Formats: sequence, C-alpha cells, structure tokens
Amino acid sequence: MKKYLVTGSYGQIGVALIPAMIKKYGRENVIATGRKKPIPLFKELDVIYRRLDVRDQFGLRSLIVENDIDIIIHNASVLSATGEKNPQLAHSINFEGFYNVLEASRELKIEQLFTPSSIAAFGPTTPLVNTPNTTIMEPTSIYGISKVYIELMGNYYNLKYGLNFRALRYPGVLSPEEPGGGTTDYAIWIFYEALKNMKYTCFLGADVRLPMMMMSDCLKSTFDLIEADDAKLKHRSYNVTGMSFTPEELANAIRKYLPDFTIDYEPDFRNAIALSWPQSLDDSAAREEWGWEPELPFDKMVPAMLDGVSQRLGISYK
Ligand SMILES: NC(=O)c1ccc[n+]([C@@H]2O[C@H](COP(=O)([O-])OP(=O)(O)OC[C@H]3O[C@@H](n4cnc5c(N)ncnc54)[C@H](O)[C@@H]3O)[C@@H](O)[C@H]2O)c1
Repeated sequence: MKKYLVTGSYGQIGVALIPAMIKKYGRENVIATGRKKPIPLFKELDVIYRRLDVRDQFGLRSLIVENDIDIIIHNASVLSATGEKNPQLAHSINFEGFYNVLEASRELKIEQLFTPSSIAAFGPTTPLVNTPNTTIMEPTSIYGISKVYIELMGNYYNLKYGLNFRALRYPGVLSPEEPGGGTTDYAIWIFYEALKNMKYTCFLGADVRLPMMMMSDCLKSTFDLIEADDAKLKHRSYNVTGMSFTPEELANAIRKYLPDFTIDYEPDFRNAIALSWPQSLDDSAAREEWGWEPELPFDKMVPAMLDGVSQRLGISYK
C-alpha cells in the first residue's frame, strides 16, 4: 500500500477527501496536514494529522522523509475571491508553496504529485463554451495565474525530471461543507440561505453560467486520475465537469422543493471573475484517456445538497 500526504487537508475538499482516502487506503497510509489544530472530524476519525504550512520547506521535507511518503496530494491554496483581496498572500502560498512541494517531490523522488488546478486557469481570451482541454490560457486573477504556473511547472518537471505530475481542472465543487472563498461558492451558500431564510442575495448575475460538479464526482475523478495507468496519459492536466448552470436555473430548481424561495442579485467583483471563466468544459480528453465519467447530474444534485445542508443545519424541509 502506498503512503499519502495531503496538504490543506481540512478545506472544503479535504474534509470529504480524507475520510474517503482512509476508507480506500487505510488510516495508517494517509497523513493529513494543515496549518491549524486538527478539526473535530479528524479527531473523531483518529486521522493521522501533522502541522504543516506549505511555505515551510524544511517541515515539508521532514514529514515526507519521516513518513516515507509515496504520493502527495497538494490541496493547500488561497482561492479566487480571497486571492483578489490579498494577491501577495496568494502569491506566497500558491506559487512559493507549490514550488516547495514540487522541489521536495523531485529531490525526495516522490512517486506521484497530484494537485487540483481549476477552471480559473482559463481567462477571457479562452473559448468559454465547451472549453477544450488544450486552448488559450490567459487568466486575469492571481488565483488563475497561479494555477497556470502550477500546470506549466508540473509539466516541465515531468519532461525534465520525469516527475509523475497530474492535475485536474476542477469546476466549482458542490458539497454541504462551507466553501473556502471561491467564486462558485454562491452555489453552496444559496442552499444555506434558502433553508434558513427562504431568500438569497446572489453575488453573481442571474445568467452567469459556470461549470460545477458534486463532491462525490470530484473525489471520483481524483481517485481515477491518481490510479490511472501512466502509459495512457497524453496530458498532465485535465478538464473534468459534472454539470453547468446559472444562478437563475439553480434558484428555479430549488423552488421545486421550497416553493416560497426567492432570489435577488447584487453582482460584486466576483461577477467579473466568473465572466472570465468557462461556461462549460469539454472533458473528452479525461474520458478518452482514463475513462472519466461523472455520476451525479444537476437534477440529482439539488435534492442531495438540500438533504446535506439541512442535516448540517438541523433543519427539516420536507
Ligand atoms: N472547492 C472548489 O470549488 C475548487 C474548485 C477548483 C479547484 N479547487 C482547488 O482544490 C484545492 C482545495 O480547495 P478547497 O475548496 O478545499 O479550498 P479551501 O479554501 O476550503 O481549503 C484550502 C486549504 O488550504 C489551507 N491552506 C492555506 N494556506 C496554507 C498554507 N500556507 N499551508 C498549508 N495549508 C494552507 C487552508 O487552511 C485550507 O484548509 C485547492 O487547490 C483549490 O484551488 C477547489
């Protein structure tokens, strides 16, 4: 069994990923890391947890050596909306932090470095409908620029040093957990506000279409790519998607379950970010090369999110 180290492990994705990894690979093979004390869920699950700021290259190397790590899943990042508020912080964590992980992976001969990229790696000059896997990438947010850097450096280390680097361009990831400061977060907060207050003020315009996927599909794509046969991979970074919708379409779908729900729109700086991102993704390269297929469509996502968020809030809506 391989040994895995996960950075940024208690974020929105980490809190779902770590339990799924423990189930799949065994508790003793998963080292979760993060900057703060372990969250209650990790204590409950008796997760092996170590403190790590990804900017600390010595701490990172010690953890890799001491735990004999084979595969790194690098999730630590400042997300898009938070990055625009503090580009200098985003630079230090997303660029320098990733460079530390990349260099440690090369020097310590890590078997595979997996990291999420994002639809934010695309920009206004990209064809935004059914965005191809290989296309123009001129993002205008610091977060998006960091994802292009990550993809290009990962590819370079693969060509130059043979590092087994793999990345997935996640769209907005939907789960009942509170999201970490991204532009697609509205599609999670809308469920919280619908269940608590029956109304939501959206920070994107009614017609802003973005690609998304449910957390179960995000984890599936992650495990599928990590486990894919290297000989089949013609790319190092892949588009993956599960669905695509606008705030208005989501509000209409929620009204089927909560007829009194209302939405209004007060677009802020995140609207401009969203308008520079793809509306939908072509994920045929992932489908052809390693058999990617999403399982949860839009009409099943809405009741799943209502169930998950109402459970977290302790509210019954049926
Ligand atoms: N959630 C999404 O919709 C989405 C979409 C596309 C890509 N992604 C990518 O997936 C990854 C995980 O995202 P998430 O949604 O869990 O984000 P999140 O913001 O919820 O979690 C990120 C984690 O990184 C940690 N972190 C920040 N700076 C750190 C540092 N210096 N050292 C160590 N840890 C640090 C944070 O504490 C947090 O736990 C990120 O790379 C993100 O870019 C997420």
